[in-house]
Amino acid sequence: MSPQKKLHEWYLIHKRDLPFRKKKQAYPIWISEVMLQQTRVNAMLPLYESFIKRFPNPETLAEAEEEEVLANWKGLGYYSRARNIRKAAIFLVQNYNGAFPKDLNLVLKLPGIGNYTARAILSIAYDLPLAVLDGNVKRVLSRYHGYTDNILGAKADNELQKKADEFLNKDHPGDHNQAMMELGATLCLPESPKCLLCPLSEFCFARIHQKTSEIPLRVKDKKQVVLNGEIFVLNHKNSILLLREPKMRFLKGMFHLPYGFIGEVPEETYEPSPFFLSLKESYKGKTPNPIGEFKHTITHHKMVFSVFSLSLESRNLVEGLTKKFGVESKWVTLSDLDTEFPSSLASKVKKILLYLES
Ligand code: ADE
Ligand code: SF4
Repeated sequence: MSPQKKLHEWYLIHKRDLPFRKKKQAYPIWISEVMLQQTRVNAMLPLYESFIKRFPNPETLAEAEEEEVLANWKGLGYYSRARNIRKAAIFLVQNYNGAFPKDLNLVLKLPGIGNYTARAILSIAYDLPLAVLDGNVKRVLSRYHGYTDNILGAKADNELQKKADEFLNKDHPGDHNQAMMELGATLCLPESPKCLLCPLSEFCFARIHQKTSEIPLRVKDKKQVVLNGEIFVLNHKNSILLLREPKMRFLKGMFHLPYGFIGEVPEETYEPSPFFLSLKESYKGKTPNPIGEFKHTITHHKMVFSVFSLSLESRNLVEGLTKKFGVESKWVTLSDLDTEFPSSLASKVKKILLYLES
C-alpha cells in the first residue's frame, strides 16, 4: 500500500472529532484555521464555538461593527487577525456573494490570508490539490524524506513545499493535509516521536536511519543588527576625500568615504571612529540636509545610510584631523570613486550624486 494511502487510513480511524470537520464549508474552516495559528485545539474550541454562533457566515461578520468582532476574539490575542477576518468577509460578500473563490491566487489577495491559510481552506473545503506547510508538517516531511538542511534556513520553505506538493494525496487533499498536521501534533513529536504507532514508519528515512533526534535541523539565524549611519562626500576642487582608518569594524584596510553609525549602537565595535566624531564636531550646526539615503546589508547587519555632501573651502581641516588620528587619506574624482573604493557602498553613493547632477 502506498504511504499516502496508509496515512489516509490512519487518519480516518484516528482523526479527532472537531466541530469544523463536520461539514466541508469554507467559512468555518477559515475561522478555525486562523484561530489554530495562535492557539492549540483544546484552548480554541470554546472561543470557536461562540464566535461561530455569533457570526455563523461571512454576511453576519461583514455586517458587524469591528468592536463587536474584537470582543468575540477576546482571549485569542493578535487582534489584527480579527480585524483582517472582518475585512476579508466584507470583501467576500461584496465580490463573491460571500463564497470563497476556488482559486489560490484570488484567495491570497484577501486581507490576512497567506499561503498556509489559503491552501488549508481550499484543500479542506473544496479538495483542491494544494499541500499545506506548517511547523508540524515541516517536521514530518523533513524526517520522512531525510531532509538534513536547516529547516529555518532561507531555502527550506521552498524546498519543503516542493516535497509537500509531491507527497500530496491527490485523491484526498483535504484529509491528507489534516493527516500530516495531526501526525505532527500527535505522533511525530519534536522529542521522542512515537514511530511504532506511525503509519509512515516503514518508509520514513529518519526512523530507518535512527536520525529522529538530528532531523529536523533547526539553527536560528544570527540576530539582525540594525544600524543607522551617515556617510560624507567631502568635495574640494573636483576631488572627493577617501580615508583608510585603523580599527574599523567594516571595510577594514580599504580606502572608504568617511562614515559612522549614529544614535544607539548595540556594541562598542560599532562606535564611530574618532575622525568621524571630530569631523562632525567641526561642522556642528553647519551640516546641510542629506542629499539621499540608501539601505545596505553586510552579513546580519541591516544599515540605512544618509548621504551628506559638503564643499570644502580648503583641505586644512581634514588634513589636520587625519594627522591627529593616524588616518591615511587620498583625493579621488567622482568617476574613480567606485574603483578607488571598491564596495557597493560607493556605487550607491555615486548613483545618488549622479542623479543630483542630471
Ligand atoms: N492544525 C491547524 N489546522 C489543523 C487541522 N485542520 N487539522 C489538524 N491540525 C491542525
Ligand atoms: Fe515521524 Fe517516526 Fe513517523 Fe517518521 S516514523 S514520520 S519520525 S513518527
